[in-house]
Amino acid sequence: MKYQFDFTDKIVLITGASRGIGRAIAEGFSSLGAISLLVGRNVEKLNETEAAILEQGGKCIKIQADINVVSQVDTMINNIKRDFNRVDILINNAGVGHRIPSIDVTEEQWKTVLDTNLNTPFFLSTKIAKEFMIPQKCGKIVNTASMGGFSGIPMSAAYSSSKGGILQMTRSLAAEWAKYNIQVNCICPHYTKTDLIQEAMSNEDWIRLVASRTPIGRLAEPEETVGAALFLASHMASYITGTYIQIDGGCYGGGF
Ligand SMILES: NC(=O)c1ccc[n+]([C@@H]2O[C@H](COP(=O)([O-])OP(=O)(O)OC[C@H]3O[C@@H](n4cnc5c(N)ncnc54)[C@H](OP(=O)(O)O)[C@@H]3O)[C@@H](O)[C@H]2O)c1
Repeated sequence: MKYQFDFTDKIVLITGASRGIGRAIAEGFSSLGAISLLVGRNVEKLNETEAAILEQGGKCIKIQADINVVSQVDTMINNIKRDFNRVDILINNAGVGHRIPSIDVTEEQWKTVLDTNLNTPFFLSTKIAKEFMIPQKCGKIVNTASMGGFSGIPMSAAYSSSKGGILQMTRSLAAEWAKYNIQVNCICPHYTKTDLIQEAMSNEDWIRLVASRTPIGRLAEPEETVGAALFLASHMASYITGTYIQIDGGCYGGGF
């Protein structure tokens, strides 16, 4: 087992597991023995993720919660404490974004993006670390940043700011919590075929443009983000913390 991925009975809390990248990551963990705790607001979509995992013989628990509502997060943590009394891996994946000219962005829109993509992942990480990972003397946190955290994206200032912020948050928590044997890292996907970019994907010219600027020549599939998340959450990444893996089809951090 020394050089194998094995997540048997690991408790993996995955936000935004109802669809897209989070669902793929949850399927990945559960296929390797983990018990995936699937967090999202949309019950029907959570049911679909659950059905896919069960069909593959995996284990999971659905948790319907809005991660930006403190009372719902606290209830979720209390229930995890009651049922499992541990969290081995936290995947801060839930995310939102808007494509709006910056001069038209409202304070509410800005705050929703920053809350979902940066503020809540910070406070969820601190609660999970305090309640479970520090007492159990181990833990892995994988944050879903973005190639948009490195480069500016027109009409997505809030999104890009949140993703730049989570990269910095990752480095800071990694440095602070290394002494507790908690490793904190990021995955940074490039454009990936999910609902998040559905509007952009309806534009054939945009898809061609992205493909032409991506050495691999196409957008990513959600499943192509899974390997990096599993690796960073595994015992084989025990000396890796405060860094990120780009899943960028060869763009080398350039983005656009
Ligand atoms: N797709 C891309 O091109 C791309 C590129 C780089 C990075 N990313 C990042 O990858 C992550 C996953 O995105 P995706 O592409 O898979 O998007 P997606 O298909 O739109 O999925 C977003 C997920 O986040 C959940 N979510 C959003 N707000 C939530 C809230 N307040 N409470 C609970 N769950 C919430 C959604 O669940 P419910 O709707 O059920 O609440 C859903 O499961 C995000 O952090 C995103 O920024 C995506």
